Amino acid sequence: MENTITEVLYLISIVIFIIGLKGLSHPESARKGNLTAGAGMGLAILVALFAPIAGGDNNYQWIVGAMMVGSIIGLIAAKRVALTSMPEMVSLFNGLGGATAMIIGFVEFYNLSAGQEMMSATVLTNLFALVVGAVSFSGSLIAWGKLNGSLRDSLKLPLPHVINILTLVAIIGFSAYIMMQPTLPFNLVILLTALSLFYGIAFVTPIGGGDMPVVISLLNSFTGIGAAGAGLIYANHVMIIGGILVGASGTILTVLMCKAMNRSLLNVIIGGLGSKGSGAGSDREQVIKEANSGDLAIQLKYASKVSIVPGYGLAVAQAQHVCHELEHTLEAEGVEVKYAIHPVAGRMPGHMNVLLAEADVSYDKLQELEQANEDFNSTDVVLVIGANDVVNPAAKEDSSSPIYGMPILDVEQAKKVVVLKRSMRSGYAGIENPLFFGENTNMLFGDAKESLNKLKEEVKNA
Ligand code: TAP
Repeated sequence: MENTITEVLYLISIVIFIIGLKGLSHPESARKGNLTAGAGMGLAILVALFAPIAGGDNNYQWIVGAMMVGSIIGLIAAKRVALTSMPEMVSLFNGLGGATAMIIGFVEFYNLSAGQEMMSATVLTNLFALVVGAVSFSGSLIAWGKLNGSLRDSLKLPLPHVINILTLVAIIGFSAYIMMQPTLPFNLVILLTALSLFYGIAFVTPIGGGDMPVVISLLNSFTGIGAAGAGLIYANHVMIIGGILVGASGTILTVLMCKAMNRSLLNVIIGGLGSKGSGAGSDREQVIKEANSGDLAIQLKYASKVSIVPGYGLAVAQAQHVCHELEHTLEAEGVEVKYAIHPVAGRMPGHMNVLLAEADVSYDKLQELEQANEDFNSTDVVLVIGANDVVNPAAKEDSSSPIYGMPILDVEQAKKVVVLKRSMRSGYAGIENPLFFGENTNMLFGDAKESLNKLKEEVKNA
């Protein structure tokens, strides 16, 4: 009877979890979706705590103590994190999920190691949680280090792809050998754990720092799969389904990111964009035109349609609030203002949506790539704020460019384009942008927040 109640409560928490995930699919419902999924997870934890364990001890003092320490650390970290550092934090938290799966696998092997006979299904699930969890743990730590700059991009192992393949073959070989033994060779489990941790490091080290968001999403799916494996060990349905959901969503996100950058996953893993590519510009002397913010303010004030293209630089400058204020100022003058959102603008999925939501920009002002591209030729002024690669026409015109084929925002179709950035430096892809030399393009140099503040005042006074 008690087991049935436990299973029903687990089922309820899974349903709440799935409803929460559904909410995450739209910016308007995302906040509520996040809370709902959190509530589902909270219920699952409570059920796991109070579920009866056959002949066991629930060890409440350890569990509650660990939960309190973890919750306090998580709360402080989530409150303090800057939006630009979010991928780092996701990577670290993901790594901890991987570590948990690894520890569960390891501890269960330790419990088995007293010479008792092994069931091959148990060994297989233990091996799975151990190996996948360990790879995800060490890989996520390397990704975290690369993102926060503590590990240099140039840090590479010699012959990285050869080492990767050899390590992977050794992991598969040892796993198969362990499976075939009548009793557990525990020393080999220790060796396998070390090899799996090394593989995570060797797998992520050659990948360029800028590709880390894709790698984190991939590692996130590994962690989900590892957690599902750990769930199999305990025949815990909520862990299995939760793990599968994380694994599936991480995989879908990885595929979507690769698609939006028009790159294959293999190309990301082997490395291509992190290093400087070709297509870095022509030998022809190119001239740029600088914008004068006074003249630009007048053009904006008398425009009927203005489009704003936010990019990574908007997040760096933390200029989302002043951008929203400029939007209000222009609307007060009767100007229609929209935001054109590229799917991989910024450094993480939905980066621009989150950033603009923080400044309370209304969702109905956000246009997706296709819709924005249809509108540009009827737009008077496009303000490109801290964006670079996502408006680079080389993606359409230069087949030697590393971003060739990536869908971009066709801002050059508008009557006038003004790019707000600090210098002529390249963006994430490390390549020159011919848009900056275009006929109808002007550059407004400076920190995006300062430029927008000035522009807003000048529109008011124009
Ligand atoms: P980027 O191409 O990286 O360009 C950002 C620009 O912002 C830079 O050229 C920089 O120029 C400018 N900037 C930086 N700080 C600024 C500040 N304080 N004020 C004004 N400008 C500033 O950004 P994007 O156009 O958003 O493109 C995103 C890139 O990241 C794409 O190549 C995409 O493939 C890649 N990527 C995205 C994701 C996801 S999921 N979003 C994941 C992996 C990779 P200055 O230094 O001259 O100011």
